Amino acid sequence: MSEQTLIVVKPDAFARKLTGKILSRFEEKGFVIKELKSYNFSKEKAEEFYSAHKSKPFFHELVSFIISSKVVACILEGENAINTVRLMIGSTRSFDAQPGTIRGDYGLGITENIIHASDSYESFIKESNVIFDSRKSK
Ligand code: CMP
Repeated sequence: MSEQTLIVVKPDAFARKLTGKILSRFEEKGFVIKELKSYNFSKEKAEEFYSAHKSKPFFHELVSFIISSKVVACILEGENAINTVRLMIGSTRSFDAQPGTIRGDYGLGITENIIHASDSYESFIKESNVIFDSRKSK
């Protein structure tokens, strides 16, 4: 089933000029870029984006990191996009991520883990509405 998902190239990857390489991987896989923007999270928008983690001990570190500089947000479309993109990015803890995945190839951190991708349809709707405010739930 063709569906959409959201990815965010995080400040560490943006600073290391990995954005082009990361987007290429999704295009090479067959996904289509439907929306793309460079974006600076405000503290409020970051807290909304990561509200599922509000009670976690790392929440403030996570918010501080994502607002620390520019990110690139992208809506991708293609077959089974939500799960396939999650497989392509690899484990949250980059040092555990399999080689061949994006985190496995480019990162070593947990907070600084290169890229975010929506983990469900509900997360996609919520997260894409934070960044691309005109989008609505289907
Ligand atoms: P992301 O895919 O953006 O979704 C939530 C983020 O929380 C995750 O990537 C990590 O950057 C961060 N995260 C998850 N677990 C931890 C942890 N144990 N310590 C610090 N940050 C974490």
